[in-house]
Amino acid sequence: MSTADLSIDFCGVKFLNPFMLSSSPVANCAEMVGRSFDAGWGGVSYKTMVTDRIPIIHPSPRMQGYDYGDKKLVGLQNVEQTSDRGLKANLLDIMYLKKHWPRHIVMASIMGFSNQEWADLARACTDAGADLLELNFSCPHMTVEGSGAKVGQCEHLVETFTETVRKVTKLPLVAKMTPNITDITIPALYAKKGGADGIAAINTVAGISQIGIDDMVIKPNVFGKGAMSGFSGPAVKPIGLKMIATLALNRELCLPLSGMGGIETWIDALEYLLVGASTLQVTTGIIHYGYRIVEDMIEGLSDYMATRGIKNIKELVGKGLKNICEPDKFDLTRQGIARYDLDRCCGCGQCYRVCHDAGGQALEWDVEKRRPSLDEDKCLSCMVCSFVCPVHDLITYKEMPQGWKRKETVTLGKEMEKVG
Ligand SMILES: Cc1cc2nc3c(=O)[nH]c(=O)nc-3n(C[C@H](O)[C@H](O)[C@H](O)COP(=O)(O)O)c2cc1C
Ligand code: SF4
Ligand code: SF4
Repeated sequence: MSTADLSIDFCGVKFLNPFMLSSSPVANCAEMVGRSFDAGWGGVSYKTMVTDRIPIIHPSPRMQGYDYGDKKLVGLQNVEQTSDRGLKANLLDIMYLKKHWPRHIVMASIMGFSNQEWADLARACTDAGADLLELNFSCPHMTVEGSGAKVGQCEHLVETFTETVRKVTKLPLVAKMTPNITDITIPALYAKKGGADGIAAINTVAGISQIGIDDMVIKPNVFGKGAMSGFSGPAVKPIGLKMIATLALNRELCLPLSGMGGIETWIDALEYLLVGASTLQVTTGIIHYGYRIVEDMIEGLSDYMATRGIKNIKELVGKGLKNICEPDKFDLTRQGIARYDLDRCCGCGQCYRVCHDAGGQALEWDVEKRRPSLDEDKCLSCMVCSFVCPVHDLITYKEMPQGWKRKETVTLGKEMEKVG
């Protein structure tokens, strides 16, 4: 039995565990969110609400799965906007959720299309009993002028709208950032200046994941037209992790972070914790596998903590940050090579091919035995052979003694010196 405590404080609010639905179709109404709470999720960032002034009509279709080889949904392209449900229906659903699941956390995501609307929405969600507010400064494909990522890319608007909301509510404010920007810390710092208590990142990455080769239209193809729009899922995890780490490392910011972008497993979740997130949000993973993925995330994280004697999840937050450095800080006096456990080799020859065409030409190939042999002095430790080897952990990294030097690569043009 695990003794790990997965509860965590985020912006002064106690979560039963750090796992949340992120604002999207997986968190569209109380019926869905209630089921997710029963499945084990600690909280929700409810689908972004707007006032009823400008009707939101979603394009049809509004999503496109991005598959790679046999792997389904390594990414997801979408052109969905904020909630198209009426504000009243959403507010009633939030009240219902807080009445029936009082210990679960409801963060209401809002997006105003004017200063007044930001204030009105913040008041309405506060009155409905939301625990926190998430300010959506980040949807990359809003059709309403001056909204979503357009706000998130303009730090002064981020500050103004955060300040507006700050004035009308005491609830913790979490500003949700766009990754479609050069330096994510700039709008985050302005959100802090405006009164934000936490930062959420990332919203979707603007992209083009597929173009129909017959109709030449970006997907999703909305009756002959496509848009550069939001891309999410496992393919964006490296960007999400980098953005959270960048925010966590900023000494001026020092705000709690809610991380998302490609979380599907407990290891993804742990990685986000290690770079500084203290709550973790998910959409594409749920679209792919359903709410039940939270069970594995809870179990995996609990076991990981138990085996390492980590009692409280807080101890993990930001634990990986101290090992992040600029590349000029690497110790270049330490070098290594690839090590082959050939007892397990199946003779496929992949390592030989890649070493020859993209590595150090350090392998010979024994045609009779169908086995590679390594000239250690030529190995670059690029490790590309290990990435293509079909046998897990057959090729590993071995550090060489201090002072060991690899042979220089062959220069074919030596005689050209004389010619010159
Ligand atoms: C179909 C779809 C709709 C979304 N709608 C919203 C939204 O209304 N508000 C918002 O802040 N983020 C929205 N997002 C972004 C997600 O909340 C999340 O930031 C993003 O998908 C990255 O997480 P993931 O890789 O787990 O999906 C949406 C994402 C998808 C795929
Ligand atoms: S690590 Fe690079 S250079 Fe060394 S054997 Fe593998 S592919 Fe060749
Ligand atoms: S890639 Fe791996 S399995 Fe294939 S020949 Fe090389 S070492 Fe053997």
